[in-house]
Formats: sequence, structure tokens, C-alpha cells
Amino acid sequence: MKDLSEFDVKGRRVLVRADLNVPLDGDAITDDGRIRASVPTIRELADKGARVVVCAHLGRPKGEPNPKYSLAPVAKRLGELLGAEVVFATDVVGESAQDVVKALQDGQVALLENLRFEPGEESKDDALRAAFAEKLAALAEVYVGDGFGAVHRKHASVYDVPLLLPHAAGRLVVAEVEVLKKLTDDLARPYAVVLGGAKVSDKLGVIGNLLTKVDRLLIGGGMAYTFLAAQGYEVGRSLLQKDQLDQVRGFLNEAAKRGVELVLPVDVLAATEFAEDAEYEVVDATAIPADRQGLDIGPRSRELFASKLADAGTVFWNGPMGVFEFEAFSGGTRAVAEALVQSEAFTVVGGGDSAAAVRKLGLPEDGFSHISTGGGASLEYLEGKTLPGLVALEA
Ligand code: 3PG
Ligand code: MG
Repeated sequence: MKDLSEFDVKGRRVLVRADLNVPLDGDAITDDGRIRASVPTIRELADKGARVVVCAHLGRPKGEPNPKYSLAPVAKRLGELLGAEVVFATDVVGESAQDVVKALQDGQVALLENLRFEPGEESKDDALRAAFAEKLAALAEVYVGDGFGAVHRKHASVYDVPLLLPHAAGRLVVAEVEVLKKLTDDLARPYAVVLGGAKVSDKLGVIGNLLTKVDRLLIGGGMAYTFLAAQGYEVGRSLLQKDQLDQVRGFLNEAAKRGVELVLPVDVLAATEFAEDAEYEVVDATAIPADRQGLDIGPRSRELFASKLADAGTVFWNGPMGVFEFEAFSGGTRAVAEALVQSEAFTVVGGGDSAAAVRKLGLPEDGFSHISTGGGASLEYLEGKTLPGLVALEA
């Protein structure tokens, strides 16, 4: 993988694919970690006199413009962090983008509107993706891949564009890959992985593979309820992936066969509704009332999880244990985060939400060996999968 230093970028238009997929509350950014992580590469290019065209996605708008997912607030924040205005294009490859790029001066930075407003970005049809990639590539002369959180996506801006332009990996991608490599080489055991979060169907896929690598797998968050249901327990109105129950039963058998310790919550906070001030009670994980939903792991589970992390040699954590954005349901996530801070293991936190949780809960970022900007991306890397965004940069 070439890095930035190999190109003379002065006066050239450089397209930077960043991951600026930050959590928003309306148009207020609630955690700017991914924007901050993208600054070094963008600043370095601007300082070298490049005309920097940043592109990124936000949320999952499914191929059409939707003001709810506009990157406009991100452009503003990026400008504040850079200490220089970031010119915002109100479309991705249309008139606005072309005008903005044409007017860029050496050392200036522009941000294009959300890539996923264009159906070509995520299309499974190679020809459609390639057609969009051509338009994106036409905006620049050099491509820099720095959106680590999206390198597992075979999307036009991640995979197809670098195949069309001279390309290099950005500083963030290089740094992330360096750390994650340590988790695939000879790692210190026991190796424990903690999984949680709400993108359940995304993550169920990785479990089969992880079972061949880990000593312990701790499951909390939205995913846990599908595991509890697969064991035949009532989960009430908790998040449930009904179509994946069989697959999860398979994982339970596989874990038993391989001697992997699969740790599930033993109690949960069962709430009357999905709300900050919802009423809740602590119930056994095997007895969630039919009219309630689990929004966090309970106190006994927190202790159990912490004990399974205390003597680990390596821990990878992806996904909050509950709805940490609501104070009342943040205790499980806090307990896991604190267990990692206290442990002497090599600890890696992966994922936008987990990283945001660490900061929101006020835990010291230097209490972890590494906080990755990629959740799905770091998981897939650890599984040993080939990541389209890295393949393209290596080509
Ligand atoms: C993420 O938030 O995990 C990355 O930005 C990728 O987003 P995606 O899961 O919607 O592809
Ligand atoms: Mg994620």
C-alpha cells in the first residue's frame, strides 16, 4: 500500500474518501471522533498545496437525496477543526460539485454531499457502480483512501474509484491496519471478543468466523436477545432477528463443540418502552416479560462480563451493551468499558458507536490500547476477510 508521501500533490486535485459517518441529533453532531480522526490526512494534503476534495457517507439514505442525512453540519465542523472554511457542494457529482471543485485553490478543502444520495455508490451492479465511479474520479487526479470505517464496503467511492486513479492510503487507514494486524498475528490469550450494538444482522455474520479464533465470546446489546430467543426464552418486545434464529442455534452448538466460552447476559433492564425515561425493572434474562423490552444488560451480567475480561490477554470490543445514549441504560456499556480500562490486556475498541460511548461516558481514551474508527471494518479485518477498500489501495 502506497502512502501519501509518495505523491507530489501540490496544485493537484486530490479526492479523499473519509469516513465522516458521525452520530447526529437533528443537525447537531453528538460525537465528532471520526471527523477528528480524518483531519491529519486532510490537513497534510492541504498544507502541501493540494486541492482537497473530500467525499464521505452519512447514515443509510438508500440512493436518494434526503436532507436528514446531509453532510452540511459535518462540513461546518470539519472547517472548525481545520481552522479554515470547508466549501460544501450540495450534490455529489452534479453541477454544484463540479463548480466547487473548479473554483478550489491550492490548499483549499471542499466536501461533497453524502455519497449515498447517489444510487451508483452502493449498487451491487458492477456497471452501475462503475458509471458513478467514473463521474467521481473525473473530479480529481489522485485518490486517497482514508475512510477506514467503510473499507469493508464494496462501494464505488471505496473500491471502484481507486482503480481509476493513482491512489494512496491515508494516514488513518495506515495506522488502523497497523494495530489490527497485531490482533491477527500471535496475540496474547485468552482472547475475548465482546459484541453488542444494534446492527444485528450485520454482525451475526462475523460470529461463525470469530468462533474459530477466540477463547471467549461475550454477547450483549441488541444481539443478545436473538441468542436468548434461540435458546427458547421469551424476549418480549426486545430487538429480535427472527429469521436468524436457526443460524444462532448453529453458533451455540459450534461454540460448545469448539470449547469457546459463549457468555450471554443473565439479567437485563426490561423497559416499558424505548425512551430515555422509560420505566424498567431488572429481570432474569430468561424471564423477560412479554410486554417489555431489554434496553441494557443488568447488574449481575455486568459483573459476569467484567470477570470474563479481567484475566484476558487480548480484548476486542465492538458495540454498546445497551442504549447508552439514555443515561438509565448506559450502565452495561460503562461496565464493559471500565473493565477494559482496568485490564492489562491489549484492548481494542472498534466501531463508531462504541468509540462514541467511551467518550460520552467520560472514560479516558488512553485507557485503551487502540480505539478504532471502524466497527464492521475492524471486525471483518479480524475475521481475515479481504476488504475491498484495502484490496483496491493495494492494487
Ligand atoms: C459505520 O458506521 O460502520 C461505517 O461508517 C460504515 O457504515 P455502514 O455500516 O452504513 O456501511
Ligand atoms: Mg458501525
